[in-house]
Amino acid sequence: MKNNLFIAFEGIDGSGKSTQVNLLSEKLKAAGHKVYVTCEPTDSPIGAIIRNIFKGRIETDHKTIAGLFVADRLDHLQNKTNGILKKLEEGFTVITDRYYFSSYAYHGAHMPIEWVIESNRLSAELLRPDLNVFIDITPEISMERLNKGRSHIELYETLDNLKMVRDQYHNAFKLEAKNEKIFITDGNRALSEIAEDIWESVSAIN
Ligand code: ADP
Ligand code: TYD
Repeated sequence: MKNNLFIAFEGIDGSGKSTQVNLLSEKLKAAGHKVYVTCEPTDSPIGAIIRNIFKGRIETDHKTIAGLFVADRLDHLQNKTNGILKKLEEGFTVITDRYYFSSYAYHGAHMPIEWVIESNRLSAELLRPDLNVFIDITPEISMERLNKGRSHIELYETLDNLKMVRDQYHNAFKLEAKNEKIFITDGNRALSEIAEDIWESVSAIN
């Protein structure tokens, strides 16, 4: 298997990304990779602003949020201490829980998706994932999981919004099919089945 991979996980809220990121990370380590796991929104100052917006502590509009994610992502890539590009240079395989397809889907639900794709072009030109893994679950199952596991529900975590976001993910995969490697897995199944599919797909990266 190729070493030094960059893999992005995508899916609506509660789709099982964190769970599968951890499982894949363990398997890659066992296969001899040095693995660095990261996520968006990041824990940078820009990411902190975004998290405060999602918690309802700062009020703003969808377009401003889309712009903040553009900035957060550029820092995520280029940060001199722990940026993704630096980690790849150091020989890590990097797995990120969300990357620019999250922007296409979440912001494309509220504004023209073409603008969202264009505004993320600098990130795409800096680094495209070796694989985008999309865990596809129904928004109904997502809402069930979120209502069970969380004490509060964040901005964007409503059934109607998650339906739009899921549609926009599929729309974005069509629009970007020529530029991107995309693996879609049915997330409405047992953890182990999903993990096996993902492992097979990651093992096939060349
Ligand atoms: P995300 O990172 O996409 O928000 P998580 O991995 O945190 O998703 O999963 C959300 C919740 O759903 C957690 O409680 C997790 O244990 C549960 N979960 C994840 N994958 C599955 C699955 N395949 N079947 C049932 N429950 C799952
Ligand atoms: P995250 O912490 O990954 O939430 P979850 O674990 O529930 O999937 O992401 C927080 C929220 O940020 C989530 O609702 C999706 C949203 N988001 C965007 O709106 N745009 C983006 O570009 C990214 C990366 C995330």
